[in-house]
Amino acid sequence: MSGVTLALVGAGLRGQSYARHATVAGLGRVTAVAEPDPYRRESAAAEFGVSPDRVYSDWTQLAAAGRVADAAIIATQDHLHMSPAVRMADLGYHILLEKPMAPSEQEATAIADAAKRNKIMLAVCHVLRYTPYTRMLKRLLDGGRIGRLVSVQHLEPVGWWHHAHSFVRGHWRREDTSAPMLLTKSCHDIDWLIHLFGRIPAKVSSFGNLTHFRASERPEGAADRCTDCPLEPSCPYSAKRLYLGCLGDPDSEFWPLSAVTQARTEEGVLQALRTGPYGRCVYACDNDVVDHQVVNMEFPDGATCSFTMSAFTPMGHRRTRLLGTHGYIDGDGRALRLTDFRTGLEEVVDTHEGAGPSAGDGHAGGDEALTDAFLAAVATGDPALLYSDAAESLATHRVVWAAERARATDAVVHLG
Ligand SMILES: NC(=O)c1ccc[n+]([C@@H]2O[C@H](COP(=O)([O-])OP(=O)(O)OC[C@H]3O[C@@H](n4cnc5c(N)ncnc54)[C@H](O)[C@@H]3O)[C@@H](O)[C@H]2O)c1
Repeated sequence: MSGVTLALVGAGLRGQSYARHATVAGLGRVTAVAEPDPYRRESAAAEFGVSPDRVYSDWTQLAAAGRVADAAIIATQDHLHMSPAVRMADLGYHILLEKPMAPSEQEATAIADAAKRNKIMLAVCHVLRYTPYTRMLKRLLDGGRIGRLVSVQHLEPVGWWHHAHSFVRGHWRREDTSAPMLLTKSCHDIDWLIHLFGRIPAKVSSFGNLTHFRASERPEGAADRCTDCPLEPSCPYSAKRLYLGCLGDPDSEFWPLSAVTQARTEEGVLQALRTGPYGRCVYACDNDVVDHQVVNMEFPDGATCSFTMSAFTPMGHRRTRLLGTHGYIDGDGRALRLTDFRTGLEEVVDTHEGAGPSAGDGHAGGDEALTDAFLAAVATGDPALLYSDAAESLATHRVVWAAERARATDAVVHLG
């Protein structure tokens, strides 16, 4: 399988991660890269040994060269998924596409249509589907270990500092430049829950809002930047504490620090916080996405699911309780505690998940497993090695858009 060649579209944090996994595992080779940022472009070209004539500063230049690899990794920002995905699909590339597919249903539909039209494999990076924990849980459910699944309670603990980094100061802070948080973050969870149920819900409702990271919550005397703020030492959202604390730890230096600066000295980080977006007071940013949200789903057979996303947690694995007619599972992202109602006994299934839940940790093994599955699917031509295709991802994204409509209009939305 070392023959799978890859064109990397966007050598940012996610693109680098997938390309690195592919290379280290020996399953793929990056043979072309398109990236406008000179530092990222040159580092990726050097790290992956890309020939200079296959290094581009924009994905359109790569596309103009025709199909130069077996598959493309598209890891540009959300609003820049549709155009390269459709064009690369039309060129015949198989595609590993970062989530969300696109900010709008119309664009995501165009991507799914292009995948179908060109008969290519397109995997959306729903990494949670691929973790060893999920595979074990899915086996237990599909094997009938808790009977028929009747309800699920699921928590996505975003984490206070992660929320401040990505959804208050960072790329995903505004709906108009990014998308609603349910799409940019929790499309993973809605996709995952639907994967567990194995069907699309019939109805959804949702509530949620931006309750804390707003000007009205700003403590008296707070400055616009953490570097100037007298209250910084006692603020939970101190950028100085967060980013200076990353120095010396390679995982944290990659994420979240490399979104902030390439500097790896105290003075370099402070300079980025004095001038860049990540040093801003969390009560003085231009963010508008929610900091907590709930979604309720009802399935055609009457089964129900409640989902909660919140910024106000430690950053950790998702927590899920699955309630069946013959048993109960309590999952913490590592172990699954199963109670069998026929015997009353509890069994603990340890999925031996050592890796943490964050992007810096590879999402609990999901990043590697997804990359491996995608490369194996391309190498063998077998789409069954993937746990979802473009059409299925579009269907789960549509549930997200329906839930957002429900939140915006205070209604229960029925899905076709
Ligand atoms: N699957 C997950 O769990 C997960 C986690 C985090 C982010 N994401 C998603 O991954 C995507 C990338 O996120 P990121 O954190 O790596 O962002 P990033 O900003 O670090 O990377 C995006 C890269 O695309 C490059 N780019 C911009 N215009 C381009 C062009 N015309 N041609 C080629 N490249 C171009 C940018 O310069 C940048 O380096 C986003 O869609 C994000 O929502 C997914």
